[in-house]
Amino acid sequence: MPSPVHVTVTGAGGQIGYQLIFRIASGQLLGPDTPVVLRLLEIEPAMKALEGTIMELVDGAFPLLHSVVATTDVKKAFESCSWGLLVGGMPRKQGQERKDLIVANAKIFKPQGEAIAAGAAKDVRVLVVGNPCNTNCLIARSNAKGVPAERFFAMTRLDENRAKSQLAIKSGQPVSAVSNLAIWGNHSNTQYPDAFNAKIGGKPAPEVITDHNWLRTDFVTTVQNRGAKVIEARGASSAASAANAIIDSVVSIRTATKPNDWVSLAIPSNGEYGIPKGIQFGYPVRTDGQTCKVVEGLPLDEQAKARIKTTTDELIGERDAIKDLLPS
Ligand code: NAD
Ligand code: LMR
Repeated sequence: MPSPVHVTVTGAGGQIGYQLIFRIASGQLLGPDTPVVLRLLEIEPAMKALEGTIMELVDGAFPLLHSVVATTDVKKAFESCSWGLLVGGMPRKQGQERKDLIVANAKIFKPQGEAIAAGAAKDVRVLVVGNPCNTNCLIARSNAKGVPAERFFAMTRLDENRAKSQLAIKSGQPVSAVSNLAIWGNHSNTQYPDAFNAKIGGKPAPEVITDHNWLRTDFVTTVQNRGAKVIEARGASSAASAANAIIDSVVSIRTATKPNDWVSLAIPSNGEYGIPKGIQFGYPVRTDGQTCKVVEGLPLDEQAKARIKTTTDELIGERDAIKDLLPS
């Protein structure tokens, strides 16, 4: 057996944590040959619930689960960590937008970035999920001095999965037939899910779905507002589908992208498509399993450009709101 890989999950005692850590222990995150040490970070009031979850982990007798560290100490949580899954933070309630969580959540990510810089493994990669995830990722990344910026990702995969399912339903094709689905910008209701560069069964989606008005309007708003609809129906934000998207994101980051396809990840902008450098922006991305690159040169019409400007402006506004948490 190879040496175990340390995976840190913050907010492990919460809803997403409960859907996620068993899947990590079963090998779905890092594959069937990689043993894992789970390092679970929580705040004191949630430690009791986390204890119960850990009893269930033990009772699962997962052959790949080497050991579990449960802690309220942020430094200890990130020691030796190769994958940091930053989930912990408050979820929004009905009627709120994700950016309304900035006040409650943003401050969590500065010490976590510092702890990653202080103690994580040299190969650490970090996926931020706690909302507003693009801006929280910017905070963690900016405070992780010495860790290359390209090791930080914010999660737009749940939006990609939602968009693929909507196109599959509309076209009557299986979801596996839908590819090349880019989510541009912020994981918020300004994001731009791009049907015009997507494919269904290898053909351009607008050739398969000829109702272009739907592709431009209802499709976009359905994906943008899906999280709010789940909250309205469930009385709590998405958890199982979010955990599933975390697994999908990490698998997409650590394995080569399929030929001619791409995945959606929010990564630090280097100015691609005219986006200001440094913001954590949702792009279509390809990787060889080590280095991620934005897919350049995709055609964007005036409506797409206008939507991308809206989501860019929102991210700039969020960055300005948290500037006190960025090192000067
Ligand atoms: P939850 O309230 O069920 O769990 C969050 C957990 O985080 C709680 O157990 C809480 O004690 C813990 N926590 C709070 N502050 C912490 C800190 N400083 N350090 C460590 N842990 C801390 O919420 P949830 O449903 O699991 O959602 C978690 C976050 O993920 C929310 O911000 C939610 O909006 C976000 N989310 C993002 C996506 C996405 O696609 N990016 C999808 C779903 C949910
Ligand atoms: C989601 O997209 O389901 C999450 O970001 C939770 C939310 O607040 O909508």
